[in-house]
Amino acid sequence: MAHIPKVQQTWTVVRQGHPSKALVLNDNVPVPADLESGDVLVKVQAAALNPIGYKLMAFLPNLFAARPFTSENDLSGIIVSSASPDFTPGDRVFGFVDVPLQWKTRQGSLGHYVRMPASRLAPLPSNVSSTQAAGFTMAGLTAYQSLIHQAKLEEGQCIFVNGGSSSVGAFAIQIAKAKGCKVYASASGKNEEFVRGLGADEFVDYTATSLHTHFTKIPPSPKFHIILDAVGVIDPSLYTHSPAYLAPGGIFLSTGPNPTASWRGAKDLVTTVVEAFLRPIWLGGTPRKYEICKVWGIREDLYALRDLIEEGKVKPVVDSVFAFEDTLKAYERLMSNRAKGKVVIRVEPDAE
Ligand SMILES: NC(=O)c1ccc[n+]([C@@H]2O[C@H](COP(=O)([O-])OP(=O)(O)OC[C@H]3O[C@@H](n4cnc5c(N)ncnc54)[C@H](OP(=O)(O)O)[C@@H]3O)[C@@H](O)[C@H]2O)c1
Repeated sequence: MAHIPKVQQTWTVVRQGHPSKALVLNDNVPVPADLESGDVLVKVQAAALNPIGYKLMAFLPNLFAARPFTSENDLSGIIVSSASPDFTPGDRVFGFVDVPLQWKTRQGSLGHYVRMPASRLAPLPSNVSSTQAAGFTMAGLTAYQSLIHQAKLEEGQCIFVNGGSSSVGAFAIQIAKAKGCKVYASASGKNEEFVRGLGADEFVDYTATSLHTHFTKIPPSPKFHIILDAVGVIDPSLYTHSPAYLAPGGIFLSTGPNPTASWRGAKDLVTTVVEAFLRPIWLGGTPRKYEICKVWGIREDLYALRDLIEEGKVKPVVDSVFAFEDTLKAYERLMSNRAKGKVVIRVEPDAE
């Protein structure tokens, strides 16, 4: 049996603020010793960053966050101890410690060992490495669950992914193509080849034209069944003009608030909330359904995502891989808002 140390090193969120202020590298965090029924202990091979990590660090006061806790959610790893029939020691897995679980257990993926329910994990697909798999879960499940469950994606539909080079967008393009849909996607011009390489049929450079003007002038035929705004709320116009290019009965999905510390950002957020949720159609509101993407730790969905990866229909998109001690540099890369896919941390130095 593998030697399991009593303490470990983790990147711990200790206070509100920028990651350089909020995170400390803590050498003395106990490795969980007891497993409850259904739990496993995972030796982390690689972890991946998500914007929710730094957003909560920056915006959530200590009063409302269960600090201190180990940072981040997504991981790949090896089972070292199991109280679940699903896995035995030595199994290679990927999955996530979702945010409510992270706050409850103080466990996260930026450490060497995590105790977590087996239901948040799936076996590693045979065609990917640990660093490729580390970032599948949060972004992949967001794209999968919002398209499949919230939007009820069907074969032959036409969809628009705003932010096709983002992690959520890259998964969404691939999932929609795997389901036989026509996909339009946006990014800045430098990312056109990357986005088309993911399967997008049509590309729009959002830096060259405003998207609502573009689609109002040249609407898709048929109109979109789904718009997935994977950039998050930054400008309400794509939604408020959507009747010109989103079919009646279609749905506008957004990955949610993307706050910027500016009056413009705050105004756009308030306008979107009013237009999407408060202003009724009879008072001039937009006659299209608007929902925020939700991500749940549902085992069946994680296994469905895994199957798409194993079948080669969804490929990993890794922007960059950083060493564990360079985690703060990795946050800088993610916070640049220019990453093309996942920013990954190699936790185990020899993880492939
Ligand atoms: N609701 C949920 O459950 C949920 C779950 C996961 C993520 N999210 C949210 O979803 C958003 C995306 O997360 P992520 O991890 O996918 O982000 P990410 O990978 O860090 O996104 C970076 C990418 O966004 C693109 N981008 C930036 N501004 C853009 C714009 N105005 N138009 C089009 N593309 C733009 C950039 O491409 P260019 O360089 O070409 O601009 C870059 O490739 C974040 O706000 C995150 O918090 C929500």
